[in-house]
Amino acid sequence: MRIGVLSGGGDAPGLNAVIRAVTKTAIVKYGWQVTGIIDGFEGLLAPTKTRQLTLWNTRGILSDGGTILGTTNRGNPFAHKTVVGGREIVEDMSPEVLENITELGLDVLVVIGGDGSLKIGEGLLKLGVPVIGVPKTIDNDLMATYVTFGYQTAVDTATEALDKLHTTAESHQRVIMLEVMGRYAGWIALEAGISGSADVILIPEIPFSMDKVVEKLLERKKAGSKSSIVVVAEGAKPAGGEMAVREKAADGYVLRLGGMAEIVANEVSRRTSFETRVTVLGHVQRGGSPCPFDRLLATRYGSYAVDLIAQKKFGEMVSFQPPVITSVPLESAISNLKLVDPGGELVKMAEGMGVCFGR
Ligand code: F6P
Repeated sequence: MRIGVLSGGGDAPGLNAVIRAVTKTAIVKYGWQVTGIIDGFEGLLAPTKTRQLTLWNTRGILSDGGTILGTTNRGNPFAHKTVVGGREIVEDMSPEVLENITELGLDVLVVIGGDGSLKIGEGLLKLGVPVIGVPKTIDNDLMATYVTFGYQTAVDTATEALDKLHTTAESHQRVIMLEVMGRYAGWIALEAGISGSADVILIPEIPFSMDKVVEKLLERKKAGSKSSIVVVAEGAKPAGGEMAVREKAADGYVLRLGGMAEIVANEVSRRTSFETRVTVLGHVQRGGSPCPFDRLLATRYGSYAVDLIAQKKFGEMVSFQPPVITSVPLESAISNLKLVDPGGELVKMAEGMGVCFGR
C-alpha cells in the first residue's frame, strides 16, 4: 500500500503532527509507504512534486508550525486558473491529476484540509480515487467534527493577545479593538473573547448595531471602567450592512476579509470621546507551534486516518466526537458550515454576564 498525503488550503498549527502520525502509523503499524505531495493539489499536476516520507524525515516535526509539505489555498484542479496573454483561463485539470495519481502508484489519498480542500477531495472520490479526509482549519467551521485541529492554538493566541491588550488599554484609558480570523464563523472571536474577558464581541452570526456597541462602552465608562476591549471577527457585519472585504476574485469569490475592526473603531471615535486603537491579529493565529491539545488531536486524526485505510473505509473523514475519534462520510462533513448559534449556550452565558454582542 502506498499512501499519498497532502495539505490543502490555509495552514494551521498541527499539520506537521498529522503528517508525522500518518507516516509513523503507516510504516510502524502496517509496513506501508507514504508519499508526501508538495504544495497541496498543485503537486499532483505535471510536473508532479512529491517526496518520500520516512520515519527519519518526519522526526522532530510534531511541535513545528506550518507544514513540511507546503500548501496553497488557490489550487483547485477542477477549476485551475492560469494567466495566458494577460487573460485568466480556468480549466478542469482533474484528468491530469487522476493520471498522475496512477503514475505515482498512490493507492489512497489522505487530504488534510478545510471545507474547500475536502470538497476537492470529494470530487476526486467521485472520480474513483480512494480518499480519506482530515479536518483542518483554525476557523473550526466544519460540520461533523466537534473541533478541527489548529483551532485551539488560534484561540490560545487570540486570548494571549487580549490579556496583553487589557493592560495597555487600561494604562491609556482606551477602547481597543482586536480583529481576529474565522471567515464566516465567529468561533475564534467568541471563545477567545470569553476567555480573554472582552466587553464586546462582534461575530458574523449576530449582525451588530453600532448604537448598542456605543451604548455598552458608555455604560462601562459611567460605571467606572477606564478601558474597554472589543473583539471583532473578520466576518462581522452591521445589521443591514456588509462584511468588510479586502480582496475578491474576478468571479466575485471573497478571497480575503478584513477591516471591520477599523470601521467599528472609527465609528466609536466619531460618536464618543473615547480614544480607540485597533490590533489586527492576522496570520499570527495560524503560525507557530501547536498547543498540546492540537498536537494530541492532530496525532489522533493522522493515526486514525491510516486505520480507516486499513479498514478500506474510503470516502470518510476522521471526526472527533468526544471522547472518541471516529469517522463520517466526507459528503456530510462538507455539506454545511458549522456556525455559532446566536441562541446557544455560550452566547447566552456571555450575555448573562454582561458581554455585548451588539444586539
Ligand atoms: O481559513 C483560515 C483563514 O485563516 C481564515 O480565518 C482567513 O479568512 C483566511 O484563512 C485568510 O487566508 P489567507 O492566508 O489567504 O490570507
